[in-house]
Amino acid sequence: GKLNSACRPAVIDLDEEDTQKEEQCFHRSAYGVWISEVMLQQTQVEVVIDYWTTWMRSFPSVPALAAASADEVNAVWAGLGFYGRARRLHEGAKYLLEKHDGELPQTLEALRGIPGVGPYTAGAIASIALGLRAPVVDGNVERVFSRLQGGLGAPAKSAKLQKVCWELAEELVDPEDPGAFNQALMELGALICTPSSPSCQQCPVRPMCRAHQRMVAGEVASVTIFPGKALK
Ligand code: ADE
Repeated sequence: GKLNSACRPAVIDLDEEDTQKEEQCFHRSAYGVWISEVMLQQTQVEVVIDYWTTWMRSFPSVPALAAASADEVNAVWAGLGFYGRARRLHEGAKYLLEKHDGELPQTLEALRGIPGVGPYTAGAIASIALGLRAPVVDGNVERVFSRLQGGLGAPAKSAKLQKVCWELAEELVDPEDPGAFNQALMELGALICTPSSPSCQQCPVRPMCRAHQRMVAGEVASVTIFPGKALK
């Protein structure tokens, strides 16, 4: 997505040296993905890019973050709001320094063990940075799934809807490239399958969308009724 291309060095033909450089670059390191996904939870991509870059220069690694003071961390976060997020990142880094030699662990389960890291962040790090076949569900994914299926029998924002979506995501996530799949799904929801006035004409999965089919058939007034009240 936009974030990835903004962070990726403009290298097209990767020779061995470039590949090494790219691997050293923090843009898809587990640490970098952790930071970006926490920032993206409540902040738009356009705003996150600059904050993320500054953060990675200030605290380029888990040990660097763990060694920083709370004031230093807050200063770099300043302007992003929801300061609990910065505090949890800081606490998480200290935990990782103590329990995992200052490295991000390599399994979904161990990622979930980091204080402050929930199923969303753990799934994002596992799939995007580690290539593990882990599902990721955010509000965008819940909406996309609800519309694709023409309703999931659960009201918007309900625990039931979340549960159904996590199960669905678990089944659907592409084993070949789970990170790309998860990010495409989130981006589809963020850019095309928007809460109001979705761009159905530009949607790559419109042919398989039950909500769109039902709208065309006159069964529902609009795809935007999904997710909504549970359908009978
Ligand atoms: N929203 C939050 N994280 C995202 C990601 N990695 N890709 C696309 N949309 C996102």
